[in-house]
Formats: sequence, structure tokens, C-alpha cells
Amino acid sequence: MTIHNLTKKTSILNKFIAEIRSKETQKDSLRFRRNIERIGEILGYELSSHFNYESEIITTPLGEKEIKLPSNELVICSILRAGIPLHQGLLNYFDDAESAFISAYRKKTSGKEFEIVVEYFASPDLTGKTLLLADPMLATGQSLVSVYESLHKHGTPKEIHIVAVLGSTEGIDYIHDKFPENTHLWIATIDDHLNEKGYIIPGLGDAGDLAFGTKL
Ligand code: URA
Repeated sequence: MTIHNLTKKTSILNKFIAEIRSKETQKDSLRFRRNIERIGEILGYELSSHFNYESEIITTPLGEKEIKLPSNELVICSILRAGIPLHQGLLNYFDDAESAFISAYRKKTSGKEFEIVVEYFASPDLTGKTLLLADPMLATGQSLVSVYESLHKHGTPKEIHIVAVLGSTEGIDYIHDKFPENTHLWIATIDDHLNEKGYIIPGLGDAGDLAFGTKL
């Protein structure tokens, strides 16, 4: 797996990350969702440099111009519910992409232990396609791996781009060898701590709750 950590260089991306982390600014759920969407757009732009491109002749009102256009068949798969704004950010750029949705949640087993339960699942055939797997918070990495195991039953993609907003070093280490070699991780920023509940520290809190309200 190749890791592309976008905060290695400074850009306007930092402003959107600062706003989703700030305990004041993140209270505005509309702004929170929109910032996640904007981060999805930036990550999508960056990862598009790894697509295959084919030349096409475009006719303008005044002549013709050759331009290289992406030829990959894309499937964007998001993990419900926090993945929805990130999914929208990717769709904003990839007009022709198909969509897949999957739900994964942490079910407490005993004490601090939990298992990942994958339930709702809707996906097109993934065979030979470019899979963009959108999960805003790469914390322990367990849900991402469970989701991939379920998705795999729907065909083997040509390549995988994992799209994440915020990750932990531990989670990235966990997923590293569990995805095929032709997998890229595009991540906006990385923290090096997880607390005992599996939350990223300093992180930003619960991305699903911030985007859509607290759940029961
Ligand atoms: N999911 C979140 O929303 N936040 C975390 O810190 C970890 C998982």
C-alpha cells in the first residue's frame, strides 16, 4: 500500500482541516459537512493523477484540441453514515462514477472489546474497476478491513484508492498489509494517538455525530 499524506505540504486544505477540528467551528454542522466534502474534492483531485488517460479530440467552436481524459471505471464506496459528505465530495468531481454503500458499526462485546458489524450493503460489480473506498475517520482500521472483506465478494477491483480525512498511525499500520499491493491511501492528515475507546486524539470527535447529529 502506498500512503499519500497530503498535509506533508501546506495548502488551503489546512484551513478546512482546522475548521473540522476546532471545537467551536465544528458546531456548525452545515460547515462541517461542507468542509468534509471540500476535503473529498481535494483528495479526489490528487488521486486522479493515478488514473489511466486516453487522448480524445475535442471540437471547440473554433477548432480541435487533443486532450487526455481518464478512462477508469470508478466505483465510490462509502461507509455509512459518516462517509456521506466525503462521498459527495468525490462525486462532485467524478460524474460518471457508480456508487456503493455499506454500513459498519462497532458492537461492544466485552469490556473495551468490540466487533465490527457490517449490515446494509449495496454495490455494483467491482470486477476490473477502480474502487474509491471513502472512510473519513481511519481510527483502528478494523471497519475498513471488514468492509473490504465484504466488498471482495462483489468482484476484484483493478486497484483501490482509500480516501480518508483523518487517520491514526496505529490504524494505518493495521490496514497496511490487509489490502492488496495496488492500494493507495489518500489521507488529509494523521494523528499518532488512539484512546481506549478507539477515538483519534486530538482528532475531531465523532464525525458522524458532527455531520448528522448525535445518535441514540
Ligand atoms: N470515528 C470517529 O468519528 N472519530 C474517531 O475519532 C474515531 C472513529
